[in-house]
Amino acid sequence: MRRAKISIIGAGNVGATCAHWAAAKELGDIVLLDIPDRVGVAQGKALDLACCAPIERFDARVTGTSDYRDIAGSDVVVVTAGVPRKPGQSRDDLIQINVGIVKSVCEKIREFAPESIVIVVSNPLDAMVYTAWKTTGFPTHRIMGQAGALDVARFREFIAMELGISVEDISALLLGGHGDDMVPLPRLTSIHGIPLTDLLPGDKINALVERAKVGGGEIVKLMGTSAFYAPASGTIQMVEAIIKDKKRIIPTAAYCENEFDVAPGQKGKGYFVGVPALLGSKGVERIVTFNLTPDEKKLMQESVSHVKDLVSTVRKLFPDLG
Ligand code: LAC
Repeated sequence: MRRAKISIIGAGNVGATCAHWAAAKELGDIVLLDIPDRVGVAQGKALDLACCAPIERFDARVTGTSDYRDIAGSDVVVVTAGVPRKPGQSRDDLIQINVGIVKSVCEKIREFAPESIVIVVSNPLDAMVYTAWKTTGFPTHRIMGQAGALDVARFREFIAMELGISVEDISALLLGGHGDDMVPLPRLTSIHGIPLTDLLPGDKINALVERAKVGGGEIVKLMGTSAFYAPASGTIQMVEAIIKDKKRIIPTAAYCENEFDVAPGQKGKGYFVGVPALLGSKGVERIVTFNLTPDEKKLMQESVSHVKDLVSTVRKLFPDLG
C-alpha cells in the first residue's frame, strides 16, 4: 500500500503542530512548506520532527521546503498560511491580508496538486474556504475548512471540566461560521445519550456555550497570539478521517446551498459554513441535515449572514473571486 502524502502550507505554530500530530499518528509522509524567506524554519522544524521518529516510532518522511513542486501528488493539502490574531483583533480583522495570501497559495495548489483535497485553516475561516474554492476551481467536495472540529472540542472540554467527567463520554454538535456567533447545540449534546439539559441548569449551559463561542479569543488574550494545539488537532482529525476513509461525521466548513437553508435554490452560489459532514477518501462525501428548532434556525441564519458579509468583502477585494 502506498503511503499517503500530506502537505501543510505554512510552518508557523498551526502548520508545525499539524505536522507533529500527523507524524505521531503515522498518517503519511509530510511536506511542510513556507515562503522562501522562511524556508529555514520549515526545514528546521521538519528535521527536528523527523528525528522524533526513532523515539515515537513512526515511519514517515518529514521534509521542509519552499518549492511548490514538492507538494505534487499530495492526497491532502492543509492551508495554514496567513497572519494570526493579536489581542483585541477579531478573526474578521485578518481578512484584508489573509485573502491575498490564501489566494496565492491556492493558485499554487491548483497548479502542483490538482487532485488533492484541501483543508483550509486560515482565518477568517469561512471566507478563506470560499477563497480557496474560487481560486482552485476544485469541486466542492474537495474543499473544506477546519473550525467545527475545534469549536466542538472546546465545547466538550468545557462541559467535561464543569461535570468532572471524561470528555470521551460527551457527544456534541455545532453549526454555523467560525465566528463568535457560531451555534453550539445543547439540545443535541449528551453524555452517553443522557441529555446535557438533564444534567446542568440552563444558566450553566449558557455560560459553557458562551465560553465555547469566544474560546479562541480567551486564548489570544492569555498568550498574545492565536491558539494552535487544538486547531491543529481538529485539522488532523479531519485529515485522518479522509486518509483512512473513516466516514466520520465531523463539524466541517462545507459547501451548502439548500442544506440548512444556507442559499436555498441558488445553484452554484452557495457558501461554506459549519455543518455535520461525512468525511472519507473523497473528501466531503455527504452533509447530514436535520431539523432545527425555530430558535436554532434563527441563530443559524444570523451566523450564515455573517459568513455572507465576509464573502462579500472577499469579492470586493478580489472581484475575480466573485
Ligand atoms: C481559534 C482560531 C484559530 O479559534 O480561530 O483559536
